[in-house]
Amino acid sequence: MTAPRQAAEEAVYRFPHRHLLGIEGLSPEHISFLLDLADSYVEQNRKPDKKTDLLRGRTVINLFFETSTRTSSSFELAGKRLGGDVMNMSVSQSAIKKGETLIDTAMTLNAMHPDVLVVRHPDAGAVKLLSEKVNCSVINAGDGMHEHPTQALLDALTIRRRRGRIEGLTVAICGDILHSRVARSNIHLLTTMGAAVRVVAPPTLMPCAVERFGIEVTHDMEDGLRDCDIVMMLRLQNERMQGMFVPSTREYFRFFGLTREKLAVAKPDALVMHPGPMNRGVEIDSELADDIDRSVIREQVEMGVAVRMACLDALTREQTGNAD
Ligand code: CP
Repeated sequence: MTAPRQAAEEAVYRFPHRHLLGIEGLSPEHISFLLDLADSYVEQNRKPDKKTDLLRGRTVINLFFETSTRTSSSFELAGKRLGGDVMNMSVSQSAIKKGETLIDTAMTLNAMHPDVLVVRHPDAGAVKLLSEKVNCSVINAGDGMHEHPTQALLDALTIRRRRGRIEGLTVAICGDILHSRVARSNIHLLTTMGAAVRVVAPPTLMPCAVERFGIEVTHDMEDGLRDCDIVMMLRLQNERMQGMFVPSTREYFRFFGLTREKLAVAKPDALVMHPGPMNRGVEIDSELADDIDRSVIREQVEMGVAVRMACLDALTREQTGNAD
């Protein structure tokens, strides 16, 4: 048994939640527990035989009301590698297209006795509402502009494996902060774990009063990136924008796109991250995104499977005793 796995096994009662709806409210111990457990799955996923029977007899349903490549496929792989039965609901082929409500859809699936529902929805709060109507565990795979907890966990795992810690690091989160659930979940996680967070965005893409989260706010990339350990770039969330938030993508790249020149003020070994999908040449220089000496974007995808295995494991193994 690996050391992180042993630590996670010994700490099994330290994740007393029935659902994973957000990072806000999770304690440092709960977050560390999930990261320790995920660490053990990274090792398992690198072996030829990746499968366990931990979820044998359990059913996971993926219910995505928005498009996804990384999150949906990694939850599917995670469930299958743990030996569970995984069903991917195709919303475009479902009765939702005939006018069925979110709650009626959830109640219909609930009647089939799933153990975990993984839900992505365009409206903030929709996943929590759904969790109040079903008997099984619910994992938020992204709800509107609110939270994307498993993304923040996989980002944290990537950072922790590369740097050995999260506490004491300076992380610059740059780009469309206003529309980003990834930014919100990461702000909660990183500040809870003792990192210093800076957010960098043009004024039109910065939420009001974001300082209340105990973070630094700047509209200048050079200020934001100076001496930081981690540069986390965000996608322009065009699907959530009504009207123009930036004059043009060309001008946005000039002032807020990450290039080697802008990165030069960060620490010499600063890591570059992006949750994906990325718009090359808009948020990040294409060649820098592929530079394996600086960019950990592909590693983030690998960590995604391990983190989702950890979340499914943690929520199902103590399902009867979990509190909320
Ligand atoms: N980062 C992320 O959530 O990607 P997908 O939209 O592909 O799931």
